[in-house]
Amino acid sequence: MRVYMDGCFDLAHFGHANALRQARHIGEKEDDAFNTKDDEDEDYEKDGKNATTRTTRTTTTTCELVVGIVSDAEIARCKGPPVVPEEERVKCVKAVKWVDDVITNVPYELTPEFVERLFSGTHVASRRFFCTSLLFSSLLFLSFLTLSRYVSLFTPADEYGIDCIVHGDDPCYLPDGTDAYAIPKKLGKYREIKRTEGVSTTDLVARLLEFADSSDGGKDTTKSSSDGNSKRHESRFCTTASRIAQFAAKVSYSKTSKIHTEDKQRKRKGKEEKRKNVNAKNNDTCCYVVGAFDVFNAGHVELLEECSVAADKVICAVIADEYLTSDQTNQPPPMLNQSERAMSAIACRHCDDVVVGAPARITDDICKTFNVTAVVFEDDASITAQDRKVCEKNGVEILSVREKHFSRKKITIAKRVQANRALFEARQKRKMASEAAYYEQKSFVAEE
Ligand code: CTP
Repeated sequence: MRVYMDGCFDLAHFGHANALRQARHIGEKEDDAFNTKDDEDEDYEKDGKNATTRTTRTTTTTCELVVGIVSDAEIARCKGPPVVPEEERVKCVKAVKWVDDVITNVPYELTPEFVERLFSGTHVASRRFFCTSLLFSSLLFLSFLTLSRYVSLFTPADEYGIDCIVHGDDPCYLPDGTDAYAIPKKLGKYREIKRTEGVSTTDLVARLLEFADSSDGGKDTTKSSSDGNSKRHESRFCTTASRIAQFAAKVSYSKTSKIHTEDKQRKRKGKEEKRKNVNAKNNDTCCYVVGAFDVFNAGHVELLEECSVAADKVICAVIADEYLTSDQTNQPPPMLNQSERAMSAIACRHCDDVVVGAPARITDDICKTFNVTAVVFEDDASITAQDRKVCEKNGVEILSVREKHFSRKKITIAKRVQANRALFEARQKRKMASEAAYYEQKSFVAEE
């Protein structure tokens, strides 16, 4: 089963991550139903009509989630300017643990030609599954499928073998007012998931504009609470225990999952190199990454990716709101609260565990609790003499992972919004109206 979800994924947030999680879950469910039926058929073949049906489920998935990422030019044409350029949006989407592959530069509109390419071809995962089933299937079933699947061996590379397309339950219109998903709907290949409430790019853009605007970088919280805009800062997202459990659950990958395979190889190679060169004694290294992880972005992904290559386990210590909002920090308060900040880290494939609301400093206790072997601070400048003392005492290495390609500083992102203020404000107006309409007509819709 190959599930497709497309989108802009601008300022890729945990609402997008939850959409991707649900899309993959739809595929897993349909895959499961198909495999169960296949097992039943198998029993029927073997044991005859009176056999009791067995409903064994396969333990490894063959489901893959393919994400189409809309180009910068297409977003500008259909929605207004993107905040985050395509390269960074791709980096963030690839880091979400439910994603198996991405297609870049996809059109905003699902044109007949593009839909044709999406649904054409049979992916290698399906071919493998087919080969296994060949051994057990009836002769009739075999001959029918052989013909159809044999053709797929010659599938051109730009055909994607997609089985269904998933989108959130918010309407998605083209600039001419028509439904962007009309074709897959007509073909019966469209599935819908519940949009995650309380988070959106629109909301984040508003917060970024306020942050960039405030003369002291957003420290003046009294301004926003008295000018009527304070609502923007109140989180509407409900962090439930089940949501955290869904995000933290182990993901099962198909043997052909492209991103997972590449990621595994990179990490294995990195660790082998490290052990060869440094003659490391410790085979169970734990990297503890301390930071705010506010407005999670490509810079954070790059940081966590590097940590995951250097250590066997990566723990994100998402600093508690109480530390980040205290006057002593001399820093602007975070734009997202600690639960919101933690959700993006939990959804990241490079992170093995998350401390939700961690202390801002490394302590003896933390070193022992998590068996920390290395510590990284999101911002090197924040390392204190006390941190160094604790690390020295506990034999913990302080790794300096500087910004490389992508900036982790939210002010860099906020300045992009500020630089295109007029365009963003126009976009905000349109989007806020459609979001308000969504909440207005809202009723209960079950999630995947
Ligand atoms: N999505 C979601 N919950 C959100 C935001 C987005 O389920 N809070 C889903 C959308 O419904 C879509 C996918 O994520 O299926 C990609 O969304 P995208 O194209 O990036 O844009 P928007 O729907 O406009 O989302 P946002 O307002 O956050 O940009």
